[in-house]
Amino acid sequence: VGKGVLTAPFARVDGAFQCEGVPAAAIAAAVGTPAYVYSAGAMRTQYQRLAAVLDGVPHRVHYAMKANGSLGVLGVMRALGVGVDCVSGGELFRAHLAGFAPRDIVLGGVGKREDEIRDALELHIHCLTAESEAEVRLIADVARSLDVVAPVALRVNPEVTVDAFHEYVKTGQSGDKFGIPIDQAFEVAKLTASLDDLRLVGLHQHVGSQLFNLDGLVDGAERLLALYAELRAKAPKAVAAMRTFDVGGGLGASYNGEPEPDLAVLGRLVRRAHDATGLIVLLEPGRFLVANAGVLLTRVLYRKRSGAREFVVTDAGMNDLLRPALYDAWHRVDAARATDRRIVAEIVGPVCESGDFLAHAREVDDVHPGDLLVVQSAGAYGFVMSSNYNARPRAAEVLVDAGKWGVVRDREQYEDLVRGERAIPEWSEIP
Ligand code: LLP
Repeated sequence: VGKGVLTAPFARVDGAFQCEGVPAAAIAAAVGTPAYVYSAGAMRTQYQRLAAVLDGVPHRVHYAMKANGSLGVLGVMRALGVGVDCVSGGELFRAHLAGFAPRDIVLGGVGKREDEIRDALELHIHCLTAESEAEVRLIADVARSLDVVAPVALRVNPEVTVDAFHEYVKTGQSGDKFGIPIDQAFEVAKLTASLDDLRLVGLHQHVGSQLFNLDGLVDGAERLLALYAELRAKAPKAVAAMRTFDVGGGLGASYNGEPEPDLAVLGRLVRRAHDATGLIVLLEPGRFLVANAGVLLTRVLYRKRSGAREFVVTDAGMNDLLRPALYDAWHRVDAARATDRRIVAEIVGPVCESGDFLAHAREVDDVHPGDLLVVQSAGAYGFVMSSNYNARPRAAEVLVDAGKWGVVRDREQYEDLVRGERAIPEWSEIP
């Protein structure tokens, strides 16, 4: 049906869309729409595909929970034995709640606040990834105040060319806001290792997201390996406590039948990084593990014509799935029950912006009000990027596992929209 492929856990049986054997229509009837539906089996399959190419090399996979931090998803990941990559105090809180052991947690992020650094140090997580010299110094100050030695990895911007679908998801190029520019990294590493309150435990990169061509990732890692070799030769103290070499995330997921990145290339890189350094190689995949493990269910509200265009208005909008509006991202859209006619339509949400669309000029089943649509590949950067814009409650989230399904997040109620608000503040005056 149309372009793209349905990934195995999602399939049509007798024309009806199913997730691990559970009809999408049954879930929508029970929990309403919009609703995110995640397949535990699909996440496990992706993890196993990755694990297969890493076999035999000392490594750790840290799931980048920014892609989908739902407690239900984190539970599946934790059961797989993976660690987790957090980028905020809120994600640390979620990781802790989901039961990840502190040693399996890393905290990155270009703008960590002091309280987030303190939380991480009090939790004794595996390491904090510092992105600037100023942050290194702040982490040292906080560590001293807590009387601990902070394990710090340095995120280095290798300044390579990254081939990704949108400028917003490139992070390892010259001039990007992330990481320590490669030409400053030697000095910052020496400084970090010299501070009594810090232990320099590793090097880190993350060059970009949704990569099909892994050249940028490989080139970046080679630059970090060269940096490591230089440090080992000229400043051996800086590498003395290093344990990990983190190549980041970024593995692409197929949204429209694109061939997925060659995992063998990644496997070779991980082996090479370990052989060259003796370090444990860390990976931080997000999207690869969850993108095609999730769909967004939405109902058709109206059909209409405007100018030359046919519109399908759905009850999910840009507040539920921002990727089309923000990146012009392509998500496959199917009717939950196949129809024998196809139309070309704008599939748009109810939000008061012309940028609120799920799909442009899309060939789709001839759907009518009340019909259920399935927006595919919505497991990564879907719910996590949703908002309450237009005072729209956020969607329910459902986990499916081996034929069973259950709600892992209730649909928000109107009361949730105003929690913590008051029309009249408790006034204060500056004396
Ligand atoms: N590690 C770091 C430091 C990251 O910044 C990211 C993603 C990852 C790992 C995981 O990358 P992944 O394996 O998921 O590609 N909202 C965008 C994607 C933003 C990615 C941000 N960083 C989207 O919807 O396409």
